[in-house]
Amino acid sequence: MNILITGGTGLIGKHLTRLLLSKGHKVSLLSREKDNIPDVKVFLWDTEKGLMDDEALKDIDYIIHLAGAGIADKRWTDKRKQEIIDSRVKPIQLLDKHLKEQGHKLKAFISASGVGYYGGDTGETRLDENSPAGNDFLGTCVKIWEAETEKFAQAERTVSLRTGIVLSDKGGALPKLAQPIKLGIGSPLGSGKQWMSWIHVDDMCQLYLQAIEDDKMHGAYNAVAPTPARNEEITRLAADVLKRPLWAPNVPAFVMKLLFGELAVAVLGGNYVKNKRVSEELSFSYKFTTIKAALEDLLK
Ligand SMILES: NC(=O)c1ccc[n+]([C@@H]2O[C@H](COP(=O)([O-])OP(=O)(O)OC[C@H]3O[C@@H](n4cnc5c(N)ncnc54)[C@H](OP(=O)(O)O)[C@@H]3O)[C@@H](O)[C@H]2O)c1
Repeated sequence: MNILITGGTGLIGKHLTRLLLSKGHKVSLLSREKDNIPDVKVFLWDTEKGLMDDEALKDIDYIIHLAGAGIADKRWTDKRKQEIIDSRVKPIQLLDKHLKEQGHKLKAFISASGVGYYGGDTGETRLDENSPAGNDFLGTCVKIWEAETEKFAQAERTVSLRTGIVLSDKGGALPKLAQPIKLGIGSPLGSGKQWMSWIHVDDMCQLYLQAIEDDKMHGAYNAVAPTPARNEEITRLAADVLKRPLWAPNVPAFVMKLLFGELAVAVLGGNYVKNKRVSEELSFSYKFTTIKAALEDLLK
């Protein structure tokens, strides 16, 4: 199949590109910068200006939409919040418009989404795909993003993968959690009781592959491992795997709020998200079902 990935130069995209190539698919990327990636064609776009190279869409069967400004990269000013939304939504509109002009319909449009759909901090509530969207910034942002995905007209089906915290040794949350532990100054954040709904990057990419291959998949799926874990459990297990002591007291919530403002919810809050649709509707076998196994794989 010919598969085009937006934002394919990022954490998930790099890993997914390798997986898709290994399965014999043709992969091309839409990126804001020209890059030399072996076996992959890179086309340019400027999503702010609404410009893209139309050649990128030629003979494409599937689009995987991963592009978006990093949610936890900068403090959430009003301007940054708008950038986070626009960088996800405008590319969807741009792709749909250009496909329509070319009279070209995809087999599927598969977009990233996030468990932030349910809100940044949902405490002990168990959430599945039927739970309502949160009404904070994260909930609002992801709701708009998914609504735009559903509206995508130039595809036979659309899928949103409501992604949990993707664990990888190449970037994202795990190296940030592991670094202070390696330096001997790691500790849980805030109460440490907040739930983290995580997924190993290998399983994440397998789910994207399944969303391509299984034409019954449609709508939103929670892309999380079956066993969420609390921040303190993950921190302690990471310290065990790294053979480092954990002696420092928890980082107080007010310090995180001073440092990060509203964005602090990304680490102080959390969700217990169940993989209901994946476990009940798909024949999907996870490589990593426990946080211990995932950390041993990635940190050892
Ligand atoms: N990683 C996670 O834990 C996680 C969790 C939940 C949801 N997700 C979602 O999954 C998707 C992929 O995640 P990821 O971790 O692979 O992200 P990532 O590493 O930040 O990569 C995203 C890519 O998006 C493009 N991009 C960045 N800023 C942009 C902007 N302002 N306008 C247009 N494109 C922009 C970049 O590609 P170019 O430079 O090539 O244009 C970048 O490589 C994202 O939408 C993310 O929100 C990820």
